Amino acid sequence: MPDASTLVTQTDPRALVRELEGKHLIDGALVPAASGKTFDVVNPATLQVIGQTADGDAEDVARAVEAAAAAQKAWAETPARERGKLIAECGRLLEQHKEELARLVALETGKALRTESRVEAGVLADAFVFYGGLASELKGESIPFNPKMLTVTSREPIGVVGAIIPWNVPMMLMAFKIAPALVAGNAVVVKSAEEAPYAVLRVCQIMNQVLPKGLFNLLSGFGPDCGQPLVAHPKVGKVTFTGSVEAGKAVYRTAAEKLIPVTLELGGKSPMIVMADADLDKAVAGAAAGMRFTRQGQSCTASSRIYVHRSLRDAFVEKLKAKVDDLVMGDPLDEATDIGTIVSQQQFERVKSYIAQGKAEGGTAHLCSQVPADEALSRGYYVQPVIFTDLPADSRLITEEIFGPVACVVAFDDYEEVIAAANDSVYGLAATVWTRDLKTALNATKRLEAGFVQVNQNLVVLPNLSYGGVKQSGLGKEASLEAMLEHFTHKKTIIFNME
Ligand code: NAI
Ligand code: MG
Repeated sequence: MPDASTLVTQTDPRALVRELEGKHLIDGALVPAASGKTFDVVNPATLQVIGQTADGDAEDVARAVEAAAAAQKAWAETPARERGKLIAECGRLLEQHKEELARLVALETGKALRTESRVEAGVLADAFVFYGGLASELKGESIPFNPKMLTVTSREPIGVVGAIIPWNVPMMLMAFKIAPALVAGNAVVVKSAEEAPYAVLRVCQIMNQVLPKGLFNLLSGFGPDCGQPLVAHPKVGKVTFTGSVEAGKAVYRTAAEKLIPVTLELGGKSPMIVMADADLDKAVAGAAAGMRFTRQGQSCTASSRIYVHRSLRDAFVEKLKAKVDDLVMGDPLDEATDIGTIVSQQQFERVKSYIAQGKAEGGTAHLCSQVPADEALSRGYYVQPVIFTDLPADSRLITEEIFGPVACVVAFDDYEEVIAAANDSVYGLAATVWTRDLKTALNATKRLEAGFVQVNQNLVVLPNLSYGGVKQSGLGKEASLEAMLEHFTHKKTIIFNME
């Protein structure tokens, strides 16, 4: 195993960008796009160009997939526990590089360092350590099919996995895909999000010290030009995608032509139900955390539809506003900052248009916190968190994923009415219910149509919790042992005739 300390940690994110800019990682080397093309990456807090990134296309995809296919053969022959040890070693190295990774992701995405980016870097390292330890769980079964035949199953790698990731938690979401895929004996080609190419490239550079070259490759580029050829490549045997419903469907359609398995983690509009007997302060804290106000609401599990019993509604809104008022908006890299910026102009415009629509529909917008006064940040994509009340029941703000710091609070009177409203959504990713009554809690967990339901708390996703939605929130599960076995291997049935 190479010396773990060969890559010097670099906590100035701008210096790291200079080292990584304009590059893919293909076959163990940082290389430019075959076309030589690049595009700009912008710091959303200042609108200054941070650097360039490689603009990948089908030719880069072909080079990366060939490298992966070549490396995968020897990797699949490596004993599973050896593979697991190397993945866990990546986790330990990533832990050492946690601070620089956190700074880099804060610079490119606008996510505050203290409240978000460091947390993400920690989960990233943990996911590698977690999956490294699961290598010997790649077990099959023996089946009592016929006493004269020995019948067993084995878990086989798929081959080359294509992974397409978004920008909101790019390192963590990449880890949830590549750590289990690699431990299971696959090779991987990742396409990063246009807005956030650097932190994930640094992660790959760090892993590159430990793992065989070509085993994982990272391409930077746009969805249609680089993501689609990755899905379409004949040697890619599985695709895992996180992003919008629209792009997820485009990925699924392309994969259908090849009949390959696909995992999709798409959006959500997750309901939070606060019953009349709920502990109000705990529910308010859960709403502030669950709405991911510190990540500008840019979370697929954000509790963005908050149904509060009418008797508590006004007190709830007042307390939630006070809590969010206490959060400081500012420079993402400043330790004092709780809330940074929206990731891009596209998302900024999108979020602002929803807020304008909510006001036009007669909704009451309770604006929270303050945009930073600092002149250098005056052009940044800062959006004041907003709690909407009094929206019409069919408002797009209540039905569509906004992916911004916009919480919709809806008053309800009756339990049956609120369960029906919560389930009246094209999405089904997560849900929470807040009550002191055990029967209500159990009934709600049973009836809420979501992949992840919590009672009296609002925790984030962790590597050992199976995660994934129903309806248009996606297909399949990520994280946990189940995801590795079900989504990154295929089961082979083997029969020996002993006569
Ligand atoms: P997007 O779905 O367009 O981008 C996510 C990833 O998919 C990026 O790597 C992108 O390059 C790739 N992609 C885009 N079109 C593709 C295509 N046709 N084929 C293959 N890959 C493609 O999401 P975007 O535009 O950044 O955000 C739009 C909305 O999507 C957000 O407002 C939010 O509602 C949702 N979203 C959900 C996420 C989640 O965690 N589930 C993450 C990011 C966005
Ligand atoms: Mg898009």
